Formats: sequence, C-alpha cells, structure tokens
Amino acid sequence: MKVPAAGEKLGAEEVARLRAGMALQMDHYGGGRLPFVCLRAKGLVQHMAALEGPDAGRVVEVLDASGGYASACLGAGHPRMQEALRDGLEHTGYVTDELGSLERTLLLEELFGPQGLWADRFPGDAYHASGRNSGSEGLELALRLVLESNFDRRRMAPKPERAERKTVLAFEGAWHGWTQGLASLLNRRHYRLGLPLPTTEDLDVRFLPFGEAEHLESFFAEHGRKLAAVFVEPIQGDAGILVPPAGYLRRLATLCREHEVLLVADEVLTFAKTGRFFGMTDAEGPIPTDITVIGKSLGMGVVSTSMVIARRELSVRSSGAVSTSDLRPLTSAVMRSGIQYLNGEGLVERTGPLGEGLRAQLRKDVAQAFPEVFQEVRGLGYMNGIELTEKAAGSLGKLRARLLDAGIFVEFMAGAGRRSRGLRYLFPAMRIAPPLIAGEDDLQEMVARLQRGVKRFVESGS
Ligand SMILES: Cc1ncc(COP(=O)(O)O)c(C=O)c1O
Repeated sequence: MKVPAAGEKLGAEEVARLRAGMALQMDHYGGGRLPFVCLRAKGLVQHMAALEGPDAGRVVEVLDASGGYASACLGAGHPRMQEALRDGLEHTGYVTDELGSLERTLLLEELFGPQGLWADRFPGDAYHASGRNSGSEGLELALRLVLESNFDRRRMAPKPERAERKTVLAFEGAWHGWTQGLASLLNRRHYRLGLPLPTTEDLDVRFLPFGEAEHLESFFAEHGRKLAAVFVEPIQGDAGILVPPAGYLRRLATLCREHEVLLVADEVLTFAKTGRFFGMTDAEGPIPTDITVIGKSLGMGVVSTSMVIARRELSVRSSGAVSTSDLRPLTSAVMRSGIQYLNGEGLVERTGPLGEGLRAQLRKDVAQAFPEVFQEVRGLGYMNGIELTEKAAGSLGKLRARLLDAGIFVEFMAGAGRRSRGLRYLFPAMRIAPPLIAGEDDLQEMVARLQRGVKRFVESGS
C-alpha cells in the first residue's frame, strides 16, 4: 500500500482494509480503541490516517508525545539503531545464558564493570543482572527472587528465620504488570474482581498511600518484622504520574534496610526519563535498592526487553528462571549501542532542565488556559502528567481524537482513583513522555498542538 503525503487521502478500499486488519487484533479496550492507524514513522513524526468519520482516509502528520508508550527513547528509525541492528545481525548470532557471549560481556562490563556507567550504584561484585522479554516478566522475576530469599534451597524448605515474612508492601494505584504473579500487587478493584488471585497463603499484600511518609513510619513500626519486600515505582505511572516528596524514597530505603526488608524498585517506566538513568536518585545520589527492574526505553523502541539487577545473594533455585532470551546477544547489542548514544549525547541529563521548562509551559499555556479540562501538572524530566478534571475525564475518547486531529499523540494514565485515609480522588492524567531526542523546539511545537487540540475539544462542547 502506497502511503500518501500528509493532507492527502487513502481510498475507501484501503481504509476498509486497514479497519479489517485492526479488527483481526484482539481488542483490549472494550471497543474504545482510537479509530486511527499509523502508516509510517520517522523520528518524532508519525503519519496517521483516520479510519472513521467524514475525514476517513485523510493522512495527518502527528507528533509523538507519548514516546511509543514511553519506550521509544530514540524516536522511530534512528540511524544509530539501524547500525546496531545491522551489525548485531551480522555478528552476534544466538546463544543462551547457558554459556557466555562476547556481546553480552561487552554490555555488562560497560554497565557494571569496574569503570562501568552504573557501577557507582550497582557494582558488579555486589550485583548481577538478568534479561527478560518485558517489564512484567522482569517484575515476575523480582517477585520470584523475593520469595526464593525466604526459602532454603538445600533443605528445600522455608527458612525458619524468615517464616514470619509473608507480607509484601505495595502502594495504592500501583501497577506493575498483568501477569498472574503480579495480579496480587495490582491495586485496582476493576481489574481484580472475579479473577482468582495466585495463592495468597504465602503472600499477604498490603497497600499504603504513595508518598505519605507518616503512613510508612507507622506501617514499618507495626509490621516491619513481617515484611519480606516493598515494591515501589519511584514515580507512580499509571496512578497519574505521582512524584513523591523529597526524602520519601530515601526514608523508604532506610526503613527497609533497618528492618531487613528487600526493596524492589520498578523502574520499567522511569528508566532514563527523570533526567537520570534511574528515578531512585536524590540530591545525595543513588538510593540503594536490592532489586531494580528496568524496561521500556531500555529496548530503545526497537526490541521489547527488560533487565533485573539484583544483589548477588538473591537468586533462583537451579534452572528455576531460565529464559530463552535472557540477555540475548542481539538485544544486548541494541541496548549497548543505545545506552552509549544516550550517554554520549547527554540526552538523559538534558531532559532535567528541558522537562522543567516544559512543565512551566504546560501549567501556563495548557492547564491554566483550560481549567475546565485540567487541574494539575506533575512530573520530572520527560515523565509528565496533567491530571484531568472530573468532567473532562468523562469525555476522554473525544479529547484523544481532537488531539490526534491537531497532530499530537499523547497517552492517558488511569489515575489512582479513590485513595484511603481521606486523600483526594485522583482522576486520569494525560502523560507527556516524549522521546529523549525531542529538543526545545519540538517541545514548543508539542505544546502548541496540545493547545490547538484542547481548544477544539472545548469548543465542540467537550
Ligand atoms: C511501572 C511499570 N511496571 C511494569 C510495566 C509492565 O511492562 P510491560 O508492558 O513491558 O510488561 C509497566 C508498563 O507500562 C509499567 O509502567
């Protein structure tokens, strides 16, 4: 199918073909998928065609402010990735983790070796790493490491000294993945009702409001002895881009250490997006964790992958977590080349100040300009959210379509909803997490298009 230029139209037959193609894919949105199709993409620009309405078939040029579900940090078709894939295919071959691989060695050495990029946080003599295919699988492995740490593999029986440690703490609004083990950490009634949870006898999950230090203190004082682990997103994503107050994450790490509780950071989403590679960072530097899971941008928008970085003493019984694609050589080549590029160009660091400027502009030109649609701007680096008002949350589909018409693609986070202890209800939030290649001018253009789309939404009676 020939892709027309922006402004031109696809024929009715082509639109029908694309609609039929979409219908062949399982619909996970209960009929709420957006009637648009992406035909081609390069850099920050996606060519999309509307599939419904009087404009069906018309091709629009859309700026990607979602960064490919926050995973395409180098945008689409980056030359560095073309090179990495070409070289990787040419040279790396395929070997599993049952034996070594040169490409894997180069990656791990560059990250965790004595001069490694992340050796200050994860020195290779104290941490080891494993690769998985997705963020969810990475978190499954993290959960498994936690459960295994209570188990004596030689005796094949629970460790008596950890027998009481059956509680895992997570946070209200938490979202760590869909897979079955993670369902118990999913703090959403909507997703859990009517579905059997994995056996809960050995896993008692509790939830606390995120970012509230006093609740943390009292919980640890009362239940610290029973805790096996805490799972935390340094910035809660699906809950609505919630940034905890300064000092909160470090205090959490200290409480975990004092109570011999494993701290698991879910950095699948925050990886490389907060102005640093890791969200578990504050003014003092790295905040120590026992297990960190990174994903999304780690695959540079080219491969789906995640990495679990855990203290060396944490592991799984023999053959208990072997995976066909654990740090697959080609994936390792993509990660290594991408991380080298991000680092060499300073693309992660610059999102700190650029993101700050973006939020100031979003506050002034978007949130304050349309108070009937938005109520609060939050974020760090290129992880930004604008919370909707209750009224706008009721017309989300329409808002999304207006934004696409205006040439901008953003995603929406569910919002934490009702929270305990009298905390305010959190409505869905528009997530603006552009690829890291987006510079000052691109951000300006994104804000201008957002304004245009929201204006049309408001003028059309929302
Ligand atoms: C914080 C967090 N954890 C885990 C996941 C799951 O990652 P994946 O979709 O790659 O399984 C996501 C995905 O959005 C996420 O945002």
